Amino acid sequence: MDNDLMRFSVAMPEGLLVRFDHLVARRGLAKNRSEVIRDLVRDALVEEECATPGTEVMGTLTIVFDHHANDLQEKLHVIQHEYFEFIICSTHVHLDQHNCLEVIVLRGETGLVQDIANLILGTKGVKNGKLALTTTGHHL
Ligand code: NI
Repeated sequence: MDNDLMRFSVAMPEGLLVRFDHLVARRGLAKNRSEVIRDLVRDALVEEECATPGTEVMGTLTIVFDHHANDLQEKLHVIQHEYFEFIICSTHVHLDQHNCLEVIVLRGETGLVQDIANLILGTKGVKNGKLALTTTGHHL
């Protein structure tokens, strides 16, 4: 047995355990209870890291906007050039005659990445969007 593997038991109400087992089943055959618990713990730790000032994070910002909106595309373009050092790439999808979806991948200090995302989300004409943050989790 791996010496680094610490074992502990968890007391859990039956109803919670039943629902957890459904979650484990949805994740497929490759993961058992222990692996899903480890994934959830890593998720929580990564989320906490992302909220810690000074941490380098990766962000994916997904936005939806109407490309007919007043010089919106130009404004989004200007913001992305302004922060080019922190924007890895972006992908533009034409959803229909009017609407576009853009996914912008950012990398940098968490506060800065969130500020850039808020600048984009706050641009008039952006209908909705969401920033998802993660870290490399290299030490987890
Ligand atoms: Ni488009």
